[in-house]
Amino acid sequence: MFASVAGLLYSYKMNASEIRQKYLDFMQAKGHALIEPAPLVLENDPTTLFTGSGMQPLLPYLLGKAHKAGKRLTDSQPCLRLQDIDDVGDPRHTTVFEMLGNWSLGDYFKEEQIRNFFEFLTKEVGLDPAKIYVTCFIGSEKYHIPRDDEAAKIWQQVFKEAGIEAEIAEIDTAANGDQRGIRGSERIFFYNDRENWWSRGGGIESTPIGDPCGPDSEVFYDFGAEHQDEAKYGKAHPASDGARFMEIGNQVFMQYRRLEDGSFEELKDKNVDFGAGLERIAAAAMDSYDVFQISLLRPIVDKLVELSGKKYESNTADMRVIADHLRGAYLLTAQGLKPSNKQQGYALRRLIRRAILKALNLGIEQDFLAEILPLIAESYRDLPDSILTTRGAVLETLSHEEQAFRRTLRRGMKELTRFQQGGLTGKELFMLQDTYGFPLELSVEEAFRRDIPLSANWRQEFDAALAEQRQRSQTASKGMFKGGLEDHGEQTTKYHTATHLLLAALQQLIDPKISQQGSNITAERLRFDFNLDRKLTPEEKQAIETKVNEWIQADLAVTHDEFDKTYARDVLKAHGQFWDKYPDQLTVYTIGDFDHPVSREVCGGPHVEHTGQIGHFRIKKEESSAAGIRRIKAIVE
Ligand code: ALA
Repeated sequence: MFASVAGLLYSYKMNASEIRQKYLDFMQAKGHALIEPAPLVLENDPTTLFTGSGMQPLLPYLLGKAHKAGKRLTDSQPCLRLQDIDDVGDPRHTTVFEMLGNWSLGDYFKEEQIRNFFEFLTKEVGLDPAKIYVTCFIGSEKYHIPRDDEAAKIWQQVFKEAGIEAEIAEIDTAANGDQRGIRGSERIFFYNDRENWWSRGGGIESTPIGDPCGPDSEVFYDFGAEHQDEAKYGKAHPASDGARFMEIGNQVFMQYRRLEDGSFEELKDKNVDFGAGLERIAAAAMDSYDVFQISLLRPIVDKLVELSGKKYESNTADMRVIADHLRGAYLLTAQGLKPSNKQQGYALRRLIRRAILKALNLGIEQDFLAEILPLIAESYRDLPDSILTTRGAVLETLSHEEQAFRRTLRRGMKELTRFQQGGLTGKELFMLQDTYGFPLELSVEEAFRRDIPLSANWRQEFDAALAEQRQRSQTASKGMFKGGLEDHGEQTTKYHTATHLLLAALQQLIDPKISQQGSNITAERLRFDFNLDRKLTPEEKQAIETKVNEWIQADLAVTHDEFDKTYARDVLKAHGQFWDKYPDQLTVYTIGDFDHPVSREVCGGPHVEHTGQIGHFRIKKEESSAAGIRRIKAIVE
């Protein structure tokens, strides 16, 4: 199989899975208890959607709570950092990664931490000590925090024992010192709090009150001066921009706590919080500045090369994004998350859609997730079932999502043809996104490809239409996913159409006399009241769900027209609640074939144009609402 070809290229170095195992074994041999990593998806944390570091789930213990596994802990924590999504495409950034972690809860401190990590890198992984550079905190006069000479001295000693003379240097990045490069045998660098202070808020000024924090010491791998584009980034030193150095681990010495008055108090029990990117260490182990060459990522890239017939060298960024995003999508789905239009589910949907769009750039127009996901599953074979609880369902869930998105794309592409002559305004671009789920970037790209002219101010017009719609739907965007594909206006529209299908299913399967007694729709769910003097059985609920989903899958057209009231009621047999209150002319919405519709109701809209846009329908609850009135709550996902 293909793995053997790629395997030859990197089998002489330790691969990522082996490094993970070595690290956990090594730390356990040093007295650390192996703990279970936390789930990626965080349910009750208002500050973030996903676990983004190994310390996050351990915060209570770093604040003083006793951990039942003891004072020395280790794990490998899958992490997702969506804030890095725009950097994915370069050689080293990924949204998803594994953080190798170890912690000392009031136990060992700087010396043991530094020695352990150095030993692991040089003895276990086999990195050349001469390629390791480190950084320490320069100190803060304002906050009376001394320069971390303690850590620097330990490093100097550790390097000396490895036969390396390591001089200490200070680099003031604020004073343009970042152009200065490395002099002589400098190897240990002091930087300010932007680089070498760790708190959950970032630099020293933004350390949250009450939080543990402290100086950190970062470890970098040197890929060689030839990787530094000096014309662009200046001369390299560990924290400079450019490809020569890559951070591979961060040791946080949680030595202080911030007080109410903004000052810092030294802690009696000092902690170590250590985190290292498994993917980056694996890249260093191969001496590859490109993280996408490692065993967890390279097979995906190779498959993309095979599927597209294109070269990695000339399509690097797109292939990296696809590989990264599909790994993220795999991990999230394998932990039970489903694509949806809300929060984490939406982030997942966005990862999949971005991957599919990037694959279109490569000319991959057919469904391809089924080719990639097994490779990712294989690379995560060593992660325990207790973490990947639903790995068996990933392929089906994501393939379903892929097919649905491709239908959306096809419709959008067709719609674009309408504008071939007259060109497109920003308002129309917005309509394509809002109604068809056809993303702005893709419309613009396609317009260029097909020579469809865009109006001069299309971007402003698009933004104005978006703002107007936000206001109309009054669903304040939380700002979490700017530039997303859908928003709440579209979401409520889907629920509205789903409500019509639900009524039709109730009439068809339960009782033709059922009518609407109340309806309430939010961006999160629909709520529908109807007349029935008994509870629905589980079988009936199941049958209703199945029926509605059949209609959604049939992708029926949703059309509307104005009719005379008597014609609508007596001839078209439209469903309506308030015939005596309706005006003489009214709007009727029809779902399906006009002469044999699935549903026909008097209604002001808005609705989706095709039922396929709705998503998967699911009943969450069926309960009594009032005497003789039942209530269904349902979602689409
Ligand atoms: N918590 C530290 C980090 O995220 C290790 O860099």
